[in-house]
Amino acid sequence: MDADELHYSKRKKVSLIYREYVHPKDYADVSNINSSALIVSFTYLYEEFHKKNSDLFIVAENEVNNKILGFILVEKNPKSLKKGTALIYGIASHPGYKRLGIGSGLIRNVMVNLRYNHPKIKHLYLHVQETNEEALNFYFKFGFKKVKFLKDFYSWGENAHQLALSIADYFGED
Ligand SMILES: CC(C)(COP(=O)(O)OP(=O)(O)OC[C@H]1O[C@@H](n2cnc3c(N)ncnc32)[C@H](O)[C@@H]1OP(=O)(O)O)[C@@H](O)C(=O)NCCC(=O)NCCS
Repeated sequence: MDADELHYSKRKKVSLIYREYVHPKDYADVSNINSSALIVSFTYLYEEFHKKNSDLFIVAENEVNNKILGFILVEKNPKSLKKGTALIYGIASHPGYKRLGIGSGLIRNVMVNLRYNHPKIKHLYLHVQETNEEALNFYFKFGFKKVKFLKDFYSWGENAHQLALSIADYFGED
């Protein structure tokens, strides 16, 4: 058995539901995943983003025990980008539950909500550390493309790639 087969054979089966973040009930679970998976903490945005566009702040929950296993936090028309765009601030799966499709499910849910609830939004953007191969591979799988290289983007001096994907391309439309 090669390494890939071993990896796949070890995959756990989890039955997930994707739903909107609820404040403050989900705060602790989401902030735990945030702090274990991401360098930047977005906890200060949870309540505000939930109030502004609750359908763009999604959690993945284990249907069996209601444990939260991932989240995605997106802002519509952020000041830093042109109109008609949305920006992923953070996406993370629980460290013990990677490669189970959770991240893909979070992206899918946000894409569907953008397409049907926010039709003026045409592109989804994000920033990712230059060295974060795991995340880059993840985003490339959906068709995200590098659009800009941002030197010293992060406060600790690391460079970033800005990536973008058109909503129409995600759904295979013209
Ligand atoms: C990036 C992240 C959210 C992906 O979540 P996930 O639940 O593991 O993603 P999925 O299981 O849906 O993976 C979908 C595909 O992405 C690609 N992918 C994901 N992780 C990968 C890795 N470590 N190496 C190579 N490809 C990877 C694969 O093509 C995978 O499909 P496959 O498992 O069928 O081969 C997760 O790794 C994570 O939380 N990382 C830490 C936080 C982070 O870096 N967030 C992004 C900040 S910009």
